[in-house]
Formats: sequence, structure tokens, C-alpha cells
Amino acid sequence: MSVVGVVMNGVTGRMGYRQHLLRSVLAINGDGGVRLSGGRRVMLRPVLVGRDAGKVGELAGRHGIEEHTTDLGAALEDERNLVYFDAQVTSARAAAVHQAIAAGKHVYVEKPVAGTLDDALALARAATTAGVRNGVVQDKLFLPGVLKLRRLADAGFFGRVLSVRGEFGYWVFEGDWQSAQRPSWNYRAADGGGIVLDMFPHWHYVLENLFGRVEAVTARAVTHVGERVDERGEPYKADADDAAYGIFELAGGVVAQINSSWAVRVHRDELVEFQVDGTHGSAVAGLHTCRFQHRAATPRPVWDPEEPTRVRFRDQWQEVPDNTVFPNGFRAQWELFLRHVLEDAPFPHDFAAGARGVQLAELGLLSSAEGRRVPVPRLDLPAPDGEG
Ligand SMILES: NC(=O)c1ccc[n+]([C@@H]2O[C@H](COP(=O)([O-])OP(=O)(O)OC[C@H]3O[C@@H](n4cnc5c(N)ncnc54)[C@H](O)[C@@H]3O)[C@@H](O)[C@H]2O)c1
Repeated sequence: MSVVGVVMNGVTGRMGYRQHLLRSVLAINGDGGVRLSGGRRVMLRPVLVGRDAGKVGELAGRHGIEEHTTDLGAALEDERNLVYFDAQVTSARAAAVHQAIAAGKHVYVEKPVAGTLDDALALARAATTAGVRNGVVQDKLFLPGVLKLRRLADAGFFGRVLSVRGEFGYWVFEGDWQSAQRPSWNYRAADGGGIVLDMFPHWHYVLENLFGRVEAVTARAVTHVGERVDERGEPYKADADDAAYGIFELAGGVVAQINSSWAVRVHRDELVEFQVDGTHGSAVAGLHTCRFQHRAATPRPVWDPEEPTRVRFRDQWQEVPDNTVFPNGFRAQWELFLRHVLEDAPFPHDFAAGARGVQLAELGLLSSAEGRRVPVPRLDLPAPDGEG
């Protein structure tokens, strides 16, 4: 049984702690390590890095983790550590990941890869030049609802896909009378906040992987709630966008329209839902479920303002069955990345893919600022090591 050191930075944060440390790295170890194709198991030795020795030490102690430090450089120098993982606030990511690449570590990071396209491209190029494996979290692709949607698409269920409509959001409390359920940096532009930079990278990989390349974007980003109260109870000016209304034109003429908002109240079955309409059928996918209606089962609705509707439209849809047990999506992607590092398994979620997501966010903000439709050019990136 071999052991691989994984330097984890940002584990005191929401994502770093719950999804990546607890539900991925420690859960993998709890099940005997990551399983490679020949059946060999590899255990992970997390090395926690943080700015506050007390916080990171307490967290390590709580989970029986031996190694923790505030010195990223020292953790990266240790040759037993093969992988660097980053779930810090977005604005702190690029510098730390460059440091890890320079130390020869394979790098896996939360999205967005970086706060700007220039920074994301520089990271993608540095990783390729150094020949290190690189990956970005694309967790929504591993959601049961989205996997079921993909099952329908792969089966040719939709015929020709016409349009995609996405609705994402929920009310994030302002922090005055009820505490906010997201960190305050999300609402400050100078700290790398904003819903476009947060969510457009997600929409990019979902659209690109399921329906085709994003060729143009038209977006309107706004700040609906301009004042909030932070973690210390201090009021602050919320100057980052907290809602974005976007139209994405995809290869093949598919039109996707996605609303993203932290200032909307939920009247949906799930916090995110995508409706896909095709010539042969339609589907509505959420985090967990996916419902579909085939053209042969499509009722004939009749518009009648005189009579209250008695038809229960939702009852006219069928549910895609689970047919399998879906693992935690973050963990599933960790296992893919580790197999990519340890036995060269394929891993399409690389920094180049991450950079395309950041590009869409940047062009979405440009579209909003200038009030126009913006084409999305292909990025000029070198092929990964060993390809092309
Ligand atoms: N994949 C997803 O669905 C998803 C969801 C939410 C957030 N994220 C991403 O994960 C990253 C972290 O988000 P989060 O919600 O966990 O944030 P968070 O505020 O809860 O955690 C941030 C972490 O970064 C550390 N940090 C380092 N430098 C910092 C600085 N200068 N200021 C503040 N904190 C600093 C903090 O100590 C903490 O460990 C972001 O890049 C975000 O885009 C991804």
C-alpha cells in the first residue's frame, strides 16, 4: 500500500472543509484509499495549509491529521507531497498555484481557476510547460440530475436540441436580521466576488460538455442588494454583481438562457434546474432528479383565460430512474484526478477547460457593461504534455 501526500490549502473554508477534506480526501481514506485500475490502493496523506496556525491546527486535531502548517513553501518542498490542492478565496489562488507548479507538484483547484482570463491562461501555460497534471473542479457534471440528463442526451432522446433554460438561485440573507449563508467576499468586487465569476464557469462546462461549444454571450449583470452586513456584524457596500441574466449561443444553433441570482426566492423543486427542449422530447434536470416528456406523450395544451387550469402539467412527466448509486460528485472527481496523476487515466477537466470558463465570465461582464452580444473566440493554448 503506498501513500501520497496531498497539500490542501483553504480547508478552513466552506468548500475546502466540507466537500474536499471531509467528503473527498478523508472519505476516500475511510474506504481504504483510491483504487487504481489493477486493484492497487493508494492512501492519501493530507497536509493542511492555512494562514491561521490555531484554526488549521484545531481542524487537523479534530480529524486526527498529523501534518499542518502556515508555511506553504515548506509543504511544497517535501518530496513526499505529490499534489497541491487549492480551495482558497479566488483572489489568492493564482500566486499559490504558480508556487506549486514551480515546485513540480500536480495541481488541482476549485473553480474559477483564477480571477481573470490572463491569470487563468498563465496558469494553464505554466502547468503545461512544467509537465504537471492539472485539474479544476467541475462538480455540477457529477450531480445525479445532470448525469441523468446526460444519459438522455447520450441515448439520442432529444432529437435536435433547440434550447436550454437554466434557473439557479436562492435568497442570500443580507446579514442584518439573519446571518448571510455565503462569505462576504462574494459580494465585494475587489475581493474577487460576483455571481458572474462564480457561476458562469459552472454554466460553461455544463453547456460545453452536454450541448456544445459556447460561441457567443449576451448578459446583464446587476447588483440588486447594495448593502450587506459581514461576518463581524459590520455593514459593507456590496458592489459585486449578485444576479446575472445570460443568453449563451452554442454550436449548432442551440440557445441557452440561464438566470443566476442570490436575490431570488425559490419556487422550484431544486436550487438549480435546467429545462432542455428538443424536437423529440424535453427534460427538466435538477441536482438530484431528472424528468422527461417524449414527443409521443406530449399533451395538447389549450390556451383558455376564461377557465382555471385543471391540468397538472408536472404530472405529465416521467422520472429518469437512478439505476445506480451516485457517489458524492466532488469525491468522484478527486478519484478521477488522482488516477490521472497516478496511472495516467484521462481527465478532461484541465486548466484549459477552466480558462474557458473564466473567459465566459469575463466576456459576460463585458457584454453587460457594453450592452451588447459578445462572440467567444477559441483560446490559443498549447496541447497538454504528450499530445499533438
Ligand atoms: N465548486 C463549487 O460549487 C463551489 C462553491 C462555492 C465556492 N467555490 C469556490 O471555492 C473557493 C472558496 O470558496 P468558499 O465559499 O469555500 O470560501 P470561504 O470564504 O468559506 O473559504 C475561503 C478559504 O480561503 C482562505 N483564504 C486564503 N486567503 C484568504 C484571504 N485573503 N481572504 C479570505 N480568505 C482567505 C480562508 O482562510 C478559507 O480557508 C472559491 O474560489 C469559490 O469560487 C466553489
